[in-house]
Amino acid sequence: MSYLAKFYEVLNSGECEQAVNKIEKLSEHWEAHGNVLYTLGSPVYQNTCNMSAYYYKAKVFNELLWANFNQLYEKVLLVLSAYVMDEVFFYKNVSIPGFHIFVLETPYAGGGMHFDLPHQSLSWKMPVKILPRFITFTLALELPKSGAGINLWNLSYDEVMSKGIRFQDIPALTGSIQSAYQSYEVGKIAIFEGLYLHGIAPIQLVEGTEKRITLQGHIINLNNTWMAYW
Ligand SMILES: [Fe+2]
Repeated sequence: MSYLAKFYEVLNSGECEQAVNKIEKLSEHWEAHGNVLYTLGSPVYQNTCNMSAYYYKAKVFNELLWANFNQLYEKVLLVLSAYVMDEVFFYKNVSIPGFHIFVLETPYAGGGMHFDLPHQSLSWKMPVKILPRFITFTLALELPKSGAGINLWNLSYDEVMSKGIRFQDIPALTGSIQSAYQSYEVGKIAIFEGLYLHGIAPIQLVEGTEKRITLQGHIINLNNTWMAYW
C-alpha cells in the first residue's frame, strides 16, 4: 500500500467555478477557525470537544450541502466508487463531505502533520466490522496561483502504534522518513490512505487575497459497505 495520493479528474474548470460561486453565495454559513480557515460543513476534527454539537450541525449542514451540491457529490461518489471498486454511499447520520476555504492574504505556514482518525470519535450506531483501511480525499476547486498541495510521509498509524512511538516524537523522526510533496490541481481529486502521516503543505507566495478551496472527506468500510463522511 502506497502512502502517496492518486489523482483523478472529476470536474472541468467551468464546473469548479460554478461550485466556487455557490460556496461564495453560502458565505453566511461559513464557520471560522482562526484567521484564515473557514469550513462550509462540519468536520469531526473541528468538533471532537463537543460531539453533540457535531451531530446537530451535521443534520443542518447535510441538508444545505446536498441541496446545493448534489451534482458535484454524485460525480465524486462515482470516482470514489471506481477507486474502491465498490459502491460508495453518503452516511447521512454523520457529516457528509464539506469544504475547506482558506482566505489568504499572506503566506500560509501549512497544517500540522497528523493521521486522519475521525472514525474514532464517531458513534456509528451499528455493529461494526471495520476493515483495516480508511481513505481520505481532497478535491481542489480553487487554488492560489503559486499552487497548493499536501505533504505525505511513509509512516503509518499502525507502525506508530505497534512500535510504541510517542506522538510528540514524530516530528523529530520525519527527517529520516521517505516523504513527498504532491501538488493539487483544480478539478482533480487526490485520494490517499488517511492513516499515513500527512499535512497541508505551506503556501509560500500569495498575491493580494487568494483562496484555497477544497472539498474534503473520508470513506470507511463498515459491514462491507463503503461510506463517505467528514
Ligand atoms: Fe488529514
